[in-house]
Amino acid sequence: MASASCLSLLVVLVALASAASAQLSSTFYDTSCPRALATIKSAVTSAVNNEPRMGASLLRLHFHDCFVDGCDASVLLNDTATITGEQGAIPNRNSLRGFTVIDNIKAQVEAACNQTVSCADILAVAARDSVVALGGPSWTVLLGRRDSTTASKANAESDLPAPSFDLANLTQAFANKGLNVTDMVALSGGHTIGQAQCRFFRDHIYNDTNINSTLASSLQANCPRASGSGDATLAPLDATSPTAFDNAYFSNLVSQRGLLHSDQELFNGGGTDGTVRSFASSSSAFSSAFAAAMVKMGNISPKTGSQGQIRSTCSKVNGS
Ligand code: HEM
Ligand SMILES: *[C@@H]1O[C@H](CO)[C@@H](O)[C@H](O)[C@H]1NC(C)=O
Ligand SMILES: *[C@@H]1O[C@H](CO)[C@@H](O)[C@H](O)[C@H]1NC(C)=O
Ligand SMILES: *[C@@H]1O[C@H](CO)[C@@H](O)[C@H](O)[C@H]1NC(C)=O
Ligand SMILES: *[C@@H]1O[C@H](CO)[C@@H](O)[C@H](O)[C@H]1NC(C)=O
Ligand SMILES: *[C@@H]1O[C@H](CO)[C@@H](O)[C@H](O)[C@H]1NC(C)=O
Ligand SMILES: *[C@@H]1O[C@H](CO)[C@@H](O)[C@H](O)[C@H]1NC(C)=O
Repeated sequence: MASASCLSLLVVLVALASAASAQLSSTFYDTSCPRALATIKSAVTSAVNNEPRMGASLLRLHFHDCFVDGCDASVLLNDTATITGEQGAIPNRNSLRGFTVIDNIKAQVEAACNQTVSCADILAVAARDSVVALGGPSWTVLLGRRDSTTASKANAESDLPAPSFDLANLTQAFANKGLNVTDMVALSGGHTIGQAQCRFFRDHIYNDTNINSTLASSLQANCPRASGSGDATLAPLDATSPTAFDNAYFSNLVSQRGLLHSDQELFNGGGTDGTVRSFASSSSAFSSAFAAAMVKMGNISPKTGSQGQIRSTCSKVNGS
């Protein structure tokens, strides 16, 4: 190759590399921590084999991380004298789980590669590996997120969608994060696994009319109308196949079997009915939309380059 074209190739490569420096990349740890992905996968697989619901809990942790100031592991920070963390926020308190599993994965990854792999990336990979462990689709996780040095309880309360939301509220909450209605419906398919507490579905089973009445009665048996009793009693978000990552969540919605008010809002005569029907009738359409939307969600405001830090312990800022 002539040296002039060699030089111009180099210029192009350097330009590409610097343009990509603020981007995430699937190969981010290939040199710095080649064992990272296998270490995370094996820990997630064993945690999910031990307790299938853990796959749901780990998927939800990544969602609740990304929607609050981007995917930066802010959700993992404990309260301290100077940080009021997100774990005490209304959508998270006595609800989010999986912290011990993440701490255990982080310890194994640190043993392999000291202060190299971020907690935010561990959450993103663990979410994918959880979905795969429960029979769902796989996708390539982009990497290189750095961890926050702060958290925001207030932003967790303002930015995460609530189960009382109607379709317009849900659409707004996802649009605020750059996610459109197709992404929103696909990501809501995360509710094909996991459980919810009575306090989050009580209003839907007593006050809403868009729920199968046989299902409502049977849920009411373990979730009394009066708040304060049975608040934490669990029911599966997808009663058809609670631990399988499939598209039954969507066929449930078509037959008025959503557990949360917000779930059934996606199929209640509004603009998302068609997408719900299409995911109900095609598991491959759901799988590809879910995978694409997870990558999109994982790209929300990542900290890269010299922003943030790589925490040594996921529940605390380095040196604190
Ligand atoms: C559309 C707006 C959403 C609302 C209003 C919502 C609300 C909720 C609520 C209230 C629970 C039950 C929590 C409890 O009882 O402790 C829950 C559980 C869950 N959510 Fe969502 N969620 C939404 C979207 C998502 C998304 C986008 C994902 C992931 C892609 C997701 C994944 C999960 C999972 C897997 C569980 C079960 C967790 C477990 O069993 O530990 N959710 N959600
Ligand atoms: C990990 O790296 C940090 C900072 O580079 C250092 O302070 C710490 O001692 C290292 N820990 C181990 C176990 O090597
Ligand atoms: C939900 O939407 C209604 C209008 O449909 C609006 O008045 C209300 O402020 C919204 N609430 C939230 C929490 O976004
Ligand atoms: C949502 O965004 C995806 C790409 O990110 C696109 O393929 C899809 O058509 C969009 N859907 C709507 C309803 O705009
Ligand atoms: C149902 O609606 C009534 C009237 O708005 C309200 O007082 C009650 O708290 C709601 N929830 C349940 C579980 O009854
Ligand atoms: C509700 O579900 C039951 C099965 O549990 C079914 O027999 C019934 O037809 C459904 N009701 C309606 C109105 O679709
Ligand atoms: C954070 O809180 C959890 C639960 O209370 C605890 O197990 C963990 O050790 C805490 N982390 C630190 C660094 O203190």
